[in-house]
Amino acid sequence: MCGIVGYIGENNANDVLLTGLKKLEYRGYDSCGIATIYNDKFQIHKTTNRIDSLVSCIQDTEKSNIGLGHTRWATHGGVCEKNAHPHTDNKDKFVVVHNGIIENYIELKELLKDKGYEFYSDTDTEVIPNLIDLNYDGNLLEATKKTVDMLEGSYALGIMKKDNPNEIIATRKNSPLVIGVGENENFIASDYSAILKYTNKIGILENDEFAVLKKDEVSFYDKDLNKKDVAIKNIDTKDFDVEKNGYEHFMLKEINENSITAKKTLDTYLINGKLKFDINLSDEEIKNIKHIHIVACGTAMHAGLNGKYIIEKFTRIPVNVEVASEFRYKNPILDKDDFVIFISQSGETADTIACLQLVKDRNIKHMSMVNVKESTIDRMSDNVIYTKAGAEIAVASTKAYIAQVILIDLFGIYLAQKRGLYDDEELNNILRSLIEIPNKIQEVLEEDKEYIDYANKISNKRDVFYLGRGLDYYVALEGSLKLKEISYIHSEATQFGELKHGPIALIEDDTPAIVMATSKNLLDKTISNIKEIKARGANVLVLTTLKDFPSNVADKIILLPEVNENLSPLLTMIPLQLIAYHVTVNKGLDVDKPRNLAKSVTVE
Ligand code: M6R
Repeated sequence: MCGIVGYIGENNANDVLLTGLKKLEYRGYDSCGIATIYNDKFQIHKTTNRIDSLVSCIQDTEKSNIGLGHTRWATHGGVCEKNAHPHTDNKDKFVVVHNGIIENYIELKELLKDKGYEFYSDTDTEVIPNLIDLNYDGNLLEATKKTVDMLEGSYALGIMKKDNPNEIIATRKNSPLVIGVGENENFIASDYSAILKYTNKIGILENDEFAVLKKDEVSFYDKDLNKKDVAIKNIDTKDFDVEKNGYEHFMLKEINENSITAKKTLDTYLINGKLKFDINLSDEEIKNIKHIHIVACGTAMHAGLNGKYIIEKFTRIPVNVEVASEFRYKNPILDKDDFVIFISQSGETADTIACLQLVKDRNIKHMSMVNVKESTIDRMSDNVIYTKAGAEIAVASTKAYIAQVILIDLFGIYLAQKRGLYDDEELNNILRSLIEIPNKIQEVLEEDKEYIDYANKISNKRDVFYLGRGLDYYVALEGSLKLKEISYIHSEATQFGELKHGPIALIEDDTPAIVMATSKNLLDKTISNIKEIKARGANVLVLTTLKDFPSNVADKIILLPEVNENLSPLLTMIPLQLIAYHVTVNKGLDVDKPRNLAKSVTVE
């Protein structure tokens, strides 16, 4: 959600900024812009088109060695050039790129208007360069500090002064920003994917801190502007593949990486049949856990539901799965013996971060599962375990979900082993079955022709139902989210038994219904439910792992490899991801960058 990249060095800033912005495209944006300095003048170009179109805009600009770039995801004010960043002050002395939301911008605007400032955009951001101008007394860092002291809300900021092409100021609060350190060049970026082409040496700016970047040095300052040392870390780029590698879309590439992702995540935590988690939670503390809370958003929350199933079944600890945006505002009931698990692919989701802060403030034991190392959640959490999905670029999360489900399953079994309530052999069986999962995922991937055929049938439909019981319902939720977020087809996930309490009214002739049926115990119930919707005209696709699923109850049955029932989501989810993908391709939509969505939801 919004992206910042900044450069100061010896190379052409435009090239670096465009490369960086392209890498940040995946976060989601609806306009973009670049500012460089030449001969004490800003050269600013903005567009509501894609980043590629900035290339022609900047053709005539003079070469500069300093600049700021931005991708905007509209919050305050519509999508138009005047609202796109960078923004300048009235006197055109300072230029700012901003991620986040300034909550008190209306009162700040009034204050500035009283002092004669005028506003030309509808954004909250435009107050910032004008406040810097108001507060400027010969020192940009001090003016920035005075300015951010007046701001309420969240921000990551890159700031330049027109007549000083030797300095970029950066600061942040509750919105990510990293500093890249190179040889005679330095960078700022919302996330390090934007600058990895140039350097893997990264310094993390914490909340309320400042950085002053010159071409050959970076100085860090705490909130009171005392100089401080910040460790510069080498980011391991081994798993950080951000190219399409011949695939038409990132989403397709990432779905096809499900098998390898599963294997990497398993290999990291399941070593010679034994689970190993390097976390600070004693056996005694595990035995004493009263409740587990799993807090996450979107797909990560759906993965958390799988965790609830496994953990409750094998540890008998009650698990409450909560959407972060609800948890943070409900004054959650947390006991000193509770354990909270946060799940996040990006590690930058604003609501999840706020919940983590709340849990930390209350001194409650917690652990996070993240995919992006050095992300905010990674750095804030007392305990972290990692999904091994590598870079996930498509907005629709696919391989990260599979990794999250595997990791929460592994952790649930770990807790169960420590609690010792459940038959060890059954737990070991699940672990053995998990080892077979990567190959089984690969088998499911290879049946893509089936999913393409089905996608062709439903691409022009208005509504699609996703139905299941138990674990199958959790997969239905995620399958439905996948379809709606990228194809814009309305879809609904319902617990199959609940259908007749209302939603069945929506089933009419030829309504597509995708049923997950993987539980032997619930097979009869599921078949009865299918008959109910068939009788009302539904066109039913069944995804099943049960060899003896009757061949005559549905319009189409896709038989997936047999699998331990506790792990069925790891297989049933693959066709659902591919169906959503193919429907979206059929509709000619932008698969990787669906409208209105951002990869990292860094504002609430
Ligand atoms: O980075 P996170 O896992 O914290 O993101 C959570 C959600 O924003 C994310 O899963 C979202 O729902 C995806 N677009 C779903 O595909």
